[in-house]
Amino acid sequence: LCENTPVHLIENELENTTSGEDDCRPATPLYIYSQAQLQRNIQGYKNAIQSAKMLDRIHIFYAVKANANLHLMDLVRKQNCGAVTVSGYELQAALKTGFVPEMILLNGNGKQIWEIRLALKNGCMLNVDSLFDAENIISVARELQKPARVLIRVNPGLEQSSTPVHSYLSTALKNSKFGVPLHQFDQVLELLKAEHLIQLVGLHCHVGSTIRDATVYATVTRTLLDIRQKLITQGCTNLKYLDIGGGLGIDYYHGTNQGQSPLSTTGDLIQAIASLLPPDVEVIIEPGRSIVGNTGILVTKILGIKKSPDGGKQFVVVDAAMNDLIRPSFYQAYHHVLPVRKTDSSEDVYDIVGPVCESGDFLAVDRRLTQQPVKGELLAIMDVGAYGIAMASNYNMRGRAMEVMVDGNKWKIIRRRENFDSLVRTMID
Ligand code: LLP
Repeated sequence: LCENTPVHLIENELENTTSGEDDCRPATPLYIYSQAQLQRNIQGYKNAIQSAKMLDRIHIFYAVKANANLHLMDLVRKQNCGAVTVSGYELQAALKTGFVPEMILLNGNGKQIWEIRLALKNGCMLNVDSLFDAENIISVARELQKPARVLIRVNPGLEQSSTPVHSYLSTALKNSKFGVPLHQFDQVLELLKAEHLIQLVGLHCHVGSTIRDATVYATVTRTLLDIRQKLITQGCTNLKYLDIGGGLGIDYYHGTNQGQSPLSTTGDLIQAIASLLPPDVEVIIEPGRSIVGNTGILVTKILGIKKSPDGGKQFVVVDAAMNDLIRPSFYQAYHHVLPVRKTDSSEDVYDIVGPVCESGDFLAVDRRLTQQPVKGELLAIMDVGAYGIAMASNYNMRGRAMEVMVDGNKWKIIRRRENFDSLVRTMID
């Protein structure tokens, strides 16, 4: 992949074009995305939906949190996807990039009044996450005298053992903060039914992220269908949508198995649910990672190599850090690392660490590199299109990285590198 991406061209050109005060700043760290891969990922979902004869019955709502770059969102929107958002600004970003308001969903366990207002004013859908959320949505609908199309987010109260993903990435456990727990469901329902401005159009459930087994989605669909059936007997007749969330994993391991269970494809996911759907039900899926994850690489320069005194550790110190990509530090997540240019072969094991002043600042730990790391050379951290730049911070007063979109042999900067001014602009001295 690295040989096919014009990393060197981009690097050279950027180094030649930096100007003024920033002259001394290097071109890295740098996020590079592939437009072709993004389109292939969405097309993969669409082909599966078409083969299952579910066109217009299964809708893709892109999970904006995975990557909210406006240029990238625009490419997703052009593929006729909807958007699921979790904050007022994500919602604004979806509106700004032209997503159809009726195909934007505002989700979240702590929506604020201004965010609910924004959604209702623009005719977007909302998830009801709790009793207080239902009360807030009702009061804003009354204030604006606007109808509110809502789904109830159900927390089915699973056990951790039944969702084999990192506990931070599980969202439907008994003790999760998300969704209406089953014991409060009727209370929330009664409240919503009593308000004529509320249109209950569906049910939602997102069980977690990095799910490798598509049969989980069949279980979710069955659970939601059961609840729907009960609601129909209670007089809810407009339950058109079942939103089964996002969360399908991607191949972070590049075939280096690492003891992982087999990974289902997007096709497996669609197949798992298609046969379960009664004719009057439409499904929303909310993929983030499986749309953008493998479209992005983080290119970083090797600043030097360092050994611990007893030779127990060898560190490759690079110019990207946990502020650029927090997934390894935060979830012990694995990201494949490849050299951009070929160097001599190696068998050695290294920690790849950044310049941030934290021992937990690493991009890879105890990683066997098959090519020698050389000072000044570039490494590509793979599969960072989702939750890479989206979770980046300014910790240690580091500017966030630049982002570039590659389209065939053309490329375009889609976010400028942050500089000192960007960091201090909002501060008041
Ligand atoms: N829908 C809901 C309600 C969600 O909470 C999420 C992710 C998604 C959809 C999209 O899930 P995806 O298809 O991208 O897995 N920062 C973590 C991931 C947290 C995901 C939270 N919710 C990471 O870096 O892996």
